[in-house]
Formats: sequence, structure tokens, C-alpha cells
Amino acid sequence: MKKVYVGIIGFGNIGSAVAEFIKKNHQVIAANTGLDLELKKVCDTRQLKIAYPLTHQYTDIINDPEIAVVVEAIGGTVPAKKIILAALNQKKHVVTPNKEVVAKHMKELLAAAAKNKVQLLFEASVGGGIPIIQPIKESLAGNNISQIYGIVNGTTNYILFKMSSEKMEFASALKQAQDKGYAEPNPKADIEGYDAAYKAAILASVAFKAEVNWQAVYREGITGITQEDIQYAKDIGYVVKLLAIAQKVDEKIDIRVHPALLPANHALATVADNYNAIYVKGTPVGPLMFYGQGAGGGPTASAIISDIIASANSKFEIRNSTLKKAKVRNINEVKGKFYIRLEVPDRVGVLAGISKVFAQKKVSIAAVLQKESNGQFVTLIILTDKVVEKNLRAALATMKKLSVVHKIGSVIRLIA
Ligand code: HSE
Repeated sequence: MKKVYVGIIGFGNIGSAVAEFIKKNHQVIAANTGLDLELKKVCDTRQLKIAYPLTHQYTDIINDPEIAVVVEAIGGTVPAKKIILAALNQKKHVVTPNKEVVAKHMKELLAAAAKNKVQLLFEASVGGGIPIIQPIKESLAGNNISQIYGIVNGTTNYILFKMSSEKMEFASALKQAQDKGYAEPNPKADIEGYDAAYKAAILASVAFKAEVNWQAVYREGITGITQEDIQYAKDIGYVVKLLAIAQKVDEKIDIRVHPALLPANHALATVADNYNAIYVKGTPVGPLMFYGQGAGGGPTASAIISDIIASANSKFEIRNSTLKKAKVRNINEVKGKFYIRLEVPDRVGVLAGISKVFAQKKVSIAAVLQKESNGQFVTLIILTDKVVEKNLRAALATMKKLSVVHKIGSVIRLIA
């Protein structure tokens, strides 16, 4: 049996879950893979009482000649990036669940791995326990991948799910998600869509072999979504989800994170609680859906262990170091349908005024629904046909100035 010594840097929830996994499933791993995994050393800045040799110097791990695989479980970019690079330069395979460092520095890290003929693996960085990076890289390597839609942030999915199923308000659903330990230390990373944007950039880089700058990912969070929007969407057969979208259209990459109305019968619409799911379309394979727990010690450790096994078993993985710069489509050029909620005065000529602006800006209206009046204003829901985003924005900008529109409530993209 092949012995594989592992070192873990950062012994919080994830680091300790990896240790637990190796201990509890040692025999299963050995029987399935022929590998005898041993956690040789742990590095953490804190004084911990643990059953493994502990050091406070990460160099003790990366300079240990027996350790073949280093698990970076610190999170963030400083000092994680420096430590990952140092470990790769010491010819250690590095496994990390750290979406931020991978999204921000993928090219540089992969280049260091290639130079040293070792691997940098990050299965756990997207979708927690869901196998998605390896399936895209390996199982689907013969397919042309054209589209990825992902629910890749458990916190926001939990919030939107509770707002829909229990009519809970945003703030209490967020509080519950935090109490359950789903949210990032700063929940802005979840609710403003940063976490999902990192994951979208990683997925697009892997699927399209492209260097996607995470800052080029158009991003909107869920803080503007109201209880009304969720209920109105439900009335017309839609569910609101925060989607990470990466698709290839005419050799450019559409990459964005924003709330979207999904038809209630779409496979992603049924993803409840804090679950994650990634919907991938490839040719000739067709649509696929990967579903599971996107966070938490056990699921994340499961993905990390799969990378440890992969690094110990396979040949040098250097393909991704040849990522080509991505041509990212500007959000203004993207075509799509929209849900628009307006508050308008209840009087003659309002609809005529609104439709005139849409017509001037080449926005075709698919449906108009009039909702209740509060005595003074009426809520209008307008669904558009497919429009160029730039035209829709121009129409909304003009409309803001009209006396026939009191307020533009929400503008949410609609997935047909
Ligand atoms: N805060 C993240 C989420 C954790 O809610 O999905 C996993 O990256």
C-alpha cells in the first residue's frame, strides 16, 4: 500500500474535519484507492490540544520531506497565497477549499504548480462536497461545455428559500443562516454575491480553459429582493434564485452573478434550504445536474480528500496553466428577459406612457400584470421579451424621470 503523508495548515472547522475524515474513513480510503493516508503534522497559530503533532510555523510542514500533500485551510488571500506558493515551490501538491485565493490568483498558482511538476487542486472551492471541478476537467473532457448555471452560495439560497416557503423577512432568514454556520465571517460576501462571483470565475476558468478575472464577473446580490417580488414571481410560476451564470455565446463568455426568476419546473428551482446545485450543458452529453451540500466540515472534507487521492494517484496536472485570457461580454451587450416591478399612479394614460418609452428603446413587452393598489399607487409587473440589456437600462433611466412612474421597485433577470 502506498503511504501518503498529509500536512494541514489551518486547523479550524475545515482543517479539523479533514483530520476526522482521514481518521474515520482510513480503511474505506485504503480499500478503494490502495492509499494509506496519514496526517503527519498540523500548523495553526493557536495553542491547540490535538492528537496530532502541532507546529506554529508553516515552514515545518512544507519543508518536511515526507509530506507529499499540503492542505491549505486558512481561507482568504493573506497569508494563504504566500503559503500555497511556498508549498508548491517545495514540490508539494496543494489542496485547497479557498475560493477567494483560487479565483484571484489561479493562473499564477497553476503556473507555480506546473513549474514544480506538482498539482494544485481545488475541488472544495466550489459547491463544497459536490464533485464538479474533476467532472468538468475529466469526465466531461470530451464535451463542448456551453453553459453553467449554479446555485453556489448556500447562505443566499437558504435566505431566498425561507423568504419563499415561510414568507420570512430577509433579516431573520440571514440571522438563521448565520446561526447555522452557513454564512461567511462577513455576510456581505454572501448576500452581495462576492462568494458566488469567485465560484463563477473558477467554474468558467475550468470549463472554458480561460483566464477569467473575477472582477469581470458582473455581480448583483440579493439585498434588493423583497417579499413581494418572491410572491409575485410565484404567482406567475417562477422561483427567485441567486444564480452564477457562465456561458459561451459567440466566442465570448457571459459571466454574471445575480438574482434570477427561474421557471418553477427548472431543475434548479427545487434546490431547497442551503443546498447547492450546478447545472451544466455540454455537447453531446446534454444537460447535467450536480447537487449536494455546498458547505460544512464533512462535505468540504470529502472534496478535499478526493483531491488528496487524485494528487497521489495521477500524473502531473499542468493543463490549466495554459489558460487563455477570456473575452468577457459586457453586461450591456447581454440579451435576456426581465421582470420589472413598478409603482405607478392609478390614472389614465399611465400604461400608454410606459409602453411608449419601452417602444422607443426597442424593449418588447411580453406581459403586464396589474397588482393591488395602496390607494395612491398601483403595482405593475412587466415581463419583457428578450432584449439587449443596454436598451432596457436606457428605458428604465428615461422612465425614472416620468411622472407616470412613481418608483422602479425591482428589476430581476428572467431565465426562460
Ligand atoms: N458562505 C458559503 C455559502 C460557504 O454560504 O455557501 C461555502 O463556500
